[in-house]
Amino acid sequence: MDVLTVKDLSVSFYRESGEIEAVKHVSFSLRAGEILVIMGDTGCGKSVLCKSILKLLPDIAKIKTGQIFLQGKEITHYTEKEMQKLRGTVFSMVFQNPMTALNPCMSVGAQIAEAVRLRNPELSRRERQDRVINLLELVGIDHPGERAGQYPFQLSGGMAQRCVIAIALAADPAVLFADEPTTSLDVGVQSQVLELLLELRKKLGMAVIFITHNPEVAAQMADRAALMRDGELYRIGDAEEIFGKTIPNNCGRID
Ligand SMILES: Nc1ncnc2c1ncn2[C@@H]1O[C@H](COP(=O)(O)OP(=O)(O)O)[C@@H](O)[C@H]1O
Ligand SMILES: [Mg+2]
Repeated sequence: MDVLTVKDLSVSFYRESGEIEAVKHVSFSLRAGEILVIMGDTGCGKSVLCKSILKLLPDIAKIKTGQIFLQGKEITHYTEKEMQKLRGTVFSMVFQNPMTALNPCMSVGAQIAEAVRLRNPELSRRERQDRVINLLELVGIDHPGERAGQYPFQLSGGMAQRCVIAIALAADPAVLFADEPTTSLDVGVQSQVLELLLELRKKLGMAVIFITHNPEVAAQMADRAALMRDGELYRIGDAEEIFGKTIPNNCGRID
């Protein structure tokens, strides 16, 4: 079954200087439990595509054409209130820079607890705390009890991104949007976080839209891959078909 279907989606920014067509007639489906990589050069429209599905675009951007279906139900015209409900329950997000995603004034445990409370308001304080510890363990953080009391500035970039992933998982999402989630991390840490995402997908069975400009990362992560250029999604297919057998050469790179 498809969890998410996007049909003929076009998104433009309207500035004084004129219209900028950022996403042009994009169509694709996301299957339950799969990792769909969206790949393309910087500026080709990957983030705008993802944000338009989540309705996180600034006011100057408008959806011009198209429809978005979540689990068969159309959500194209959902209000901000309806979208808020989806973000944090069905949809979750992990973006490039964990330090801007985290609140510097709250311990990471409190931030994860808040995400748990939004998803499961019925839980007691005690149950919520247990869930926070579980989530920290799930994302591979040692001494989770101690870590929960720490603030973002006390964490390395990799640790911080693991905490952001824990917050995203608190939602128990059907679809996780990961927009260049390792681009700001050191190479060694980057591969650990990618491994973690692969492992979590297997364990939790969520579908992932994984955005990257890096063909090697794309080849490592993809079940299927969609290639974008200049706002258009011009090719989509199984990873083997797109990247070839010898990863990461012959990977449909966009120049
Ligand atoms: N705030 C904005 N105002 C005007 N144009 C924008 C804005 N954000 C993005 N764009 C346009 O959308 C295009 C795609 O941006 P984006 O989706 O962020 O690229 P990427 O593929 O690197 O994620 C950009 O090249 C730019 O033309
Ligand atoms: Mg981007």
